[in-house]
Amino acid sequence: MPLFHNFSVKLPDSTTILKVIFIIKDMLCTPLIMTTEKEKLIEEIIELKKQKNAIILAHNYQRPEMYKVADFIGDSLELSKQAAKTDADIILFCGVQFMAETAKILSPKKRVLLPNLEAGCSLADMATVEKLAEVKKQHPNAAVVSYVNTSAEIKAMTDICCTSMNALKIINSIPNKEIIFLPDINLGKYIASKTDKKIILWDGYCSVHDQLTPEMLLEMKNDIKGSKVIAHPECKPEILELADHICGTGGMAKFAKQDDGNDFIIVTECDMVNKLRQDVPEKNFFSFCNICNFMKSTTLELAKESLLEIKHEIEIPEETLKKARKSLDRMLEF
Ligand code: 13P
Ligand code: SF4
Repeated sequence: MPLFHNFSVKLPDSTTILKVIFIIKDMLCTPLIMTTEKEKLIEEIIELKKQKNAIILAHNYQRPEMYKVADFIGDSLELSKQAAKTDADIILFCGVQFMAETAKILSPKKRVLLPNLEAGCSLADMATVEKLAEVKKQHPNAAVVSYVNTSAEIKAMTDICCTSMNALKIINSIPNKEIIFLPDINLGKYIASKTDKKIILWDGYCSVHDQLTPEMLLEMKNDIKGSKVIAHPECKPEILELADHICGTGGMAKFAKQDDGNDFIIVTECDMVNKLRQDVPEKNFFSFCNICNFMKSTTLELAKESLLEIKHEIEIPEETLKKARKSLDRMLEF
């Protein structure tokens, strides 16, 4: 006689179990553990913002606790627009250096603080002034379009800046037939596949996005049956070929909301899923444990210190700022 004759437990199917495992894995990547110390820091930062007439702009890839002090969370284009229009005296930028520099260029009279001045960007570091001068000499008829992930010096040598959200529209609007596009080769190739312009590619890449392989993606797609893939255009072409939708971080929620799918694999920095879960709570988001350490180097402690002591201010030489401003102003016309 069977021991558990009348006893039956319905186990979840394997896809459901895998989904739970993926979500737990994501949460362990940069966990939001709210301690009383963190809650106190959040209150103190919010109070300091009022006292100093400051706003906090945070990129989507920031740690989840940074969302709690931010006035605005967004992609690099949205954050640039916020920086250009704010009437606060201080902008505390929770993101990386090129983003804080962009805010300073667009709001030169404001004090722009970056909680950790070491928060760089491996992609931005791949574009040097010397190399750009050389490439411009080799292609005298080409316009220079720089991704915002570049230094202020590179922006000062640029005709027009772009982000992944507006790159194609901007490139198609330029009268020149040849375009020097820097520094991301993957975004450059993606744009080249969508335009008639001759795109002169730059040999740069983001170490966070470029390390993802199609095998990793196919394996996850196989585990989460029926899932759709949303990929950032900084990923390799082999990844983009497998994507259902390609867009910058600012376009991901819109696609997920409109699409009839329920499960989305997000191929970009892993904390993007926190923002998507906040914006589209009715759907499921999965990601690879794929951390941008530059983004994660900003903490509540550093943000408080920076605001309290007006520390880690962004400064850009006047001449560079003026030239860089032109290329950013042109971008904001789109
Ligand atoms: P977004 O403009 O899509 O936010 O991208 C910025 C970035 O650094 C991606 O790695
Ligand atoms: Fe730079 Fe890549 Fe980090 Fe974006 S994810 S800030 S491109 S290093």
